[in-house]
Amino acid sequence: MPLQIAKAVFPAAGLGTRFLPATKAQPKEMLPLVDKPLIQYVIEEAVASGIRNITIITGRGKNAIEDHFDVSYELEHVLELRGKQDQLNEVRQISNMINFSYVRQKEALGLGHAILVSRDAVGNEPFAVMLGDDIIDSEVPCLRQMMDLFEKLQASIIATCEVPKSEISHYGVIRGYPVDGFNGRVVRVQDVVEKPSAAEAPSNLAIIGRYILMPEIFGVLEKTASGKGNEIQLTDAIRLLLEQQPVYAYMFQGTRYDAGDKLGFLKATVEFALRRADLGAEFKQYLKSLKL
Ligand code: G1P
Repeated sequence: MPLQIAKAVFPAAGLGTRFLPATKAQPKEMLPLVDKPLIQYVIEEAVASGIRNITIITGRGKNAIEDHFDVSYELEHVLELRGKQDQLNEVRQISNMINFSYVRQKEALGLGHAILVSRDAVGNEPFAVMLGDDIIDSEVPCLRQMMDLFEKLQASIIATCEVPKSEISHYGVIRGYPVDGFNGRVVRVQDVVEKPSAAEAPSNLAIIGRYILMPEIFGVLEKTASGKGNEIQLTDAIRLLLEQQPVYAYMFQGTRYDAGDKLGFLKATVEFALRRADLGAEFKQYLKSLKL
């Protein structure tokens, strides 16, 4: 039986320093794009991809995330009173459909460390990692695209896309070669490096926040020393994993927004609002009236 992906881990214990002061007392994962918190977009992507078990890695000051995905009696009551059956179903569906668990990362020691603390929740099976900063709009959910590829490759897969040289130092960067038979979308990874300078970057292929990882990553993470920014980096662990087994990168189909960055967040807000049936037309009129 080929291995399948049933669980996704959402690291959400970061300090959100790129979004201060908004994130001083509120998790950045709860910043709303139009009217939905960032993390909900990514959880909906997981659910649309067929994932039913979600582990959120939280840290200090992240209670709002747990509250958000809890059954909300007050909200359900109000929606019921107002006869908003569709919204009521939607709210109920998300808490019914998914099995949420929370693991506390006691210290913000880095993304790699956050994944390591999910070890018991994940167990000995391949799993997905989804970062809430990366919002991906696509016809087939990005994670579903990766899960379909996983069925064929049975190995770790990192989402990637090309980014301009001027931005490459914000990302993990991939060196590899294209694998035949995938229309240039699959790369066999030879090396990965976390946030290199533009001069040192081995390519323009950036790591984007969707991963499918084989469980051997946990053993490797235990041995991964602190790297960039004095944090335990997932990228460094993947580099060690490459010594044991193949890792692939996948150029997903869709548009990705870096919602953890102020400008990226604004762009996503405008585009998502324009697409809304209830807001789009009026919002477009308003933007036009600005005569920029
Ligand atoms: C993390 C990873 C980096 C990856 C990025 C994608 O960095 O460490 O390799 O390119 O996510 O969003 P962060 O943005 O958390 O600093």
